Amino acid sequence: MFQYSAIGMALISLEGNWLKVNKVMCQMLGYAEKELLETDFLKLTHPEDLDEDLKNVQRLLRNEIETYQMDKRYFHKDGHVIYAHLSVSLIRDSEGNPEYFISQVQDITEKKKAIQSLEESERIMRLAIETNFDGYWDWHIKKDCEYMSPGFWKMFGYEPSEKKHHPSEWQSLVVEEDLFLALDKFNEHVSSGGKTPYSVELRFKHKNGSIVWILCKGRVIEWDQNRQAVRMIGTHTDITKLKEAQKMMSQVSKWEALEVMAAGMAHEINNPLAIINGYMDQLNFILKGVKDIESEVYVVLSNVKKNVKRIATIIKALGALSRTINHDEWKEVLLSDVVKEVLAKYKEKFNGNEIVLRFENNASEMYLHGNRSDLVRAIENLVENSFYQIKNLNKEKWIEVRVLQNEGNILISILDSGSGVKKEVRSKIMQPFFTTKPLGHGVGLGLSISKGIIEQHGGTITLDPLAPNTKFDVLLPAFIRKKDDKAA
Ligand SMILES: Nc1ncnc2c1ncn2[C@@H]1O[C@H](COP(=O)(O)OP(=O)(O)OP(=O)(O)O)[C@@H](O)[C@H]1O
Ligand SMILES: [Mg+2]
Repeated sequence: MFQYSAIGMALISLEGNWLKVNKVMCQMLGYAEKELLETDFLKLTHPEDLDEDLKNVQRLLRNEIETYQMDKRYFHKDGHVIYAHLSVSLIRDSEGNPEYFISQVQDITEKKKAIQSLEESERIMRLAIETNFDGYWDWHIKKDCEYMSPGFWKMFGYEPSEKKHHPSEWQSLVVEEDLFLALDKFNEHVSSGGKTPYSVELRFKHKNGSIVWILCKGRVIEWDQNRQAVRMIGTHTDITKLKEAQKMMSQVSKWEALEVMAAGMAHEINNPLAIINGYMDQLNFILKGVKDIESEVYVVLSNVKKNVKRIATIIKALGALSRTINHDEWKEVLLSDVVKEVLAKYKEKFNGNEIVLRFENNASEMYLHGNRSDLVRAIENLVENSFYQIKNLNKEKWIEVRVLQNEGNILISILDSGSGVKKEVRSKIMQPFFTTKPLGHGVGLGLSISKGIIEQHGGTITLDPLAPNTKFDVLLPAFIRKKDDKAA
């Protein structure tokens, strides 16, 4: 029995010498029986496993345990390592004194190597996935646990230590309606037996409150006999930037479409409007000849005329908004002159309304390549807004205009003593047709036209949120040309 056992067996003295070894044991360790009996198990045991082995032997001798099992490494005669599963019992005599050990040794080298290579390939696979994707997940559906990689949590602002290995942890971060979407996709994937790919775009809530868009892809890699999913793995890719770019693109194309539409509308409406205007004049002329006409008719007529004029203004503005730039018409424009031209137009209006004008200019040599009359219009809209806001004020009334050289740019600031732009409307004031003026006073196109013109010239127009008064800043790229240069 001892000799023919399918696993290695040995009797070992209390000192550690082999007393008897079977064939399998000899083959396993690569020794002839005689040779093996001359060595001891201490020499053949891998030093890293010796300590544990000896501790177990001591516990056996102290009668604390009856047997022990451990996985350990032996050295083969030719030097290579053998992995073995060892189980040891202590044989005692009739009085209970220890006599010798019986060891059973099973070679598990192949099994161990297979596990090691599996672990290694799993490690490499995870590493590959984690470096290529932002997050990796491994869901053991039946065991109700899920591994989520460190990158998975970092994407949402969490440290992996803050989170448990459970699906509920990520589910609580998904925007509710998207969670239903994820579930639907999962069910589709499972009911198709894995044929329909699992791929879904989900919104997650970041720890800082922002939304993170995730492309979540995965597949079931283990099924049970009832075709139920057992294990599923997948990846997360952060697509927030892509989503934002897509949104911006669609807004840009919407804006472009609107511009084209505005141009078409302006053209189509302009003609009938001119015709109506003509008929109005004709009607006015005819009515003058009719003596018994009631004066009410004239009031109605003048109201109609006022409204036709209003429509004409809007159409003109719409046309300006959508106009394509003709760079051929662009010339070198002295920007401080543009501002002076606007202020000259307002001189009387300011005086008549007791508005003090402060003008500061240190950019008399700053030029810009552009359309002068458009630039005049852009600045005029800003001055007009300030004028409108303060003309009826009871407190001090002033408007300040600064034209300042600012490195390669020119900064035109327009300030007024009004009560400023209310916080809640600040984000809207540049939108076409946004106005806080009462009906009949404005159409809300001034700032959007100015913005369009300034941007066409490569500049920006902003409302300074920190200024104590209303302050609009126009920043335009400009170049310096000394008066002498011009003459030359
Ligand atoms: N200097 C300012 N002070 C306070 N609010 C302003 C000032 N400039 C603009 N706004 C606000 O921005 C809104 C939009 O301005 P915008 O020039 O586009 O249109 P509008 O002046 O209302 O009408 P329109 O210019 O077509 O006659 C104004 O209705 C006003 O609420
Ligand atoms: Mg305006």
